Amino acid sequence: MEFHKDKTKVLFICLGNICRSPSAEAVFKKYVLDAGLGEDFEIDSAGMIANHKGNPADARMRMYAAKRGIVLESISRPFDAEVDFDRFDYIIGMDGSNLADLRSRARKKEDLEKIHKMTDFGVVYDYDTVPDPYYGGEEGFELVLDILDDTCKGLLDHLKK
Ligand code: 4NP
Repeated sequence: MEFHKDKTKVLFICLGNICRSPSAEAVFKKYVLDAGLGEDFEIDSAGMIANHKGNPADARMRMYAAKRGIVLESISRPFDAEVDFDRFDYIIGMDGSNLADLRSRARKKEDLEKIHKMTDFGVVYDYDTVPDPYYGGEEGFELVLDILDDTCKGLLDHLKK
């Protein structure tokens, strides 16, 4: 991926990078493109574990996203503190565990300042986490997409200001 200095660079983080963060990446990209701001952003996602490295998003997550017209195209990769803290402006975790893991990998104050929580951008919903859907049923995947729809809208509004 080519990175441009003048763009706002956003990295979404979850544990495996096969459910929540690839969905956040796709939903946020959709809102950015719909707003005609595709040239202004670099958007990517990564996971805190490398177990699913090289794999497409979870088939269930892709199916529930597709039902809403969202195509998940990203391939799982692990977060790389040495590269990602420098490349991205906003590094956004899905739950408290992601945030703790990110903070433990920060090398300096500037790294810590880039770490945010997805639900802090919520407008309508009042969740304080995007719950991990991996071991649950259908409702978990739908809830992830509901929360991300709201928080991605809120994030774009925040970044446009
Ligand atoms: P994600 O979901 O963090 O939203 O991608 C998970 C994917 C894989 C695992 C846990 C959560 N796992 O334990 O392999």
